[in-house]
Amino acid sequence: MASEICTDRVRLRRWRSDDREPFAALNGDPEVMEHFPSTLTPQESDALIDRIEAFFATHPYGLWAVERRDTHSFIGFAGLSLQTFEAHFTPAIEVGWRLAREQWGHGFATEAGNAAIAYAFQSLRLAEIVSMTATTNVRSQRVMERLGMTRDPADDFDHPGVPAGHPLRHHVLYRLSRPTWSWSKGLAG
Ligand SMILES: CC(C)(COP(=O)(O)OP(=O)(O)OC[C@H]1O[C@@H](n2cnc3c(N)ncnc32)[C@H](O)[C@@H]1OP(=O)(O)O)[C@@H](O)C(=O)NCCC(=O)NCCS
Repeated sequence: MASEICTDRVRLRRWRSDDREPFAALNGDPEVMEHFPSTLTPQESDALIDRIEAFFATHPYGLWAVERRDTHSFIGFAGLSLQTFEAHFTPAIEVGWRLAREQWGHGFATEAGNAAIAYAFQSLRLAEIVSMTATTNVRSQRVMERLGMTRDPADDFDHPGVPAGHPLRHHVLYRLSRPTWSWSKGLAG
């Protein structure tokens, strides 16, 4: 199991207690949470860390804390999560990311997402990875496209966790298969 993955500029690692304060700050930022139904309170943010760490205890993957290697500062999360809600493509393993606003625009989400995908295909030997977001979240969709993921509009769906009629209910689904990824990276199998 990967407790840590390093790229040129970021480290994906297990969570520490001093991540709680900066994580609560980014979860309370309306700009970061624009495409989610609401911001999180510090208590909800802490509970999310607890759920993520509990998941790591029983799975060889999860949503890692992301740290910049130059400043050693915590900047958000990226990694893999198991989606089991009722939909035509579930159960599925999703690659996802959430970074503090001041860390956008440097390519950190793409770099971390790429490392998580490499781990999913090379170490976990998954056949496919998905990623999903509200139709309005164009920035996140650009990350998915930079990672080589593709969208078939026939896969679009209404997220059952968002109330009917809510503007964030409609979601796009992006997919990436291991053969496609391996081919694009020039790897065998
Ligand atoms: C989604 C999110 C992670 C994207 O962050 P991001 O910084 O835009 O994404 P990337 O890491 O791919 O960075 C790409 C940007 O960095 C720039 N960049 C600068 N240096 C770069 C480098 N060395 N390599 C790659 N890109 C670089 C790119 O040009 C691009 O800039 P642009 O936004 O002006 O087009 C961020 O907006 C976020 O945390 N949003 C809130 C949470 C969220 O919605 N999560 C997804 C829910 S499904």
